[in-house]
Amino acid sequence: MIVLGSDHGGLELKEAIQAALAARGLDVNDYGTDNGDSVDYPDFAEKVAGAVSRGDAELGILVCGTGIGMSIVANKFPGVRAALATDEFMAQMAKEHNNANILVLGGRVLTAEKAVKLVNIWLDTHYEGGRHQRRLDKITQLETALRAGKM
Ligand code: RB5
Repeated sequence: MIVLGSDHGGLELKEAIQAALAARGLDVNDYGTDNGDSVDYPDFAEKVAGAVSRGDAELGILVCGTGIGMSIVANKFPGVRAALATDEFMAQMAKEHNNANILVLGGRVLTAEKAVKLVNIWLDTHYEGGRHQRRLDKITQLETALRAGKM
């Protein structure tokens, strides 16, 4: 299950991504926004990152104007590794090294065609594990310590 969310600045890309994921036969849940009215990106980042953090969805995709605001919010959720990608290499590394469970894109940065390409790269790339798992484990340890008020 992949969950999607955007603000008005990411709506067009989100719609293109949703169509591409559906064409791949993937199970997609779109949390909005669903029209061009100005909305606040934290509300949609919360829905998508919350679903991934709780384990209700395996993966998520967030789109705002730049991808920056969505990244800031999503990475506050425990267990979320949200990666902003602007090119093919970043989309590949987001999975290969960071095992990002949320891909973040900028609707005012990418064309719809390129955004779909980056999504496909991220989905089709395998996490390498090994030394990268040690680093991800350190992120989890930091989260645990911060939540326990030990830092
Ligand atoms: C909304 O205008 C814009 O600030 C938002 O889409 C995003 O780029 C924030 O990071």
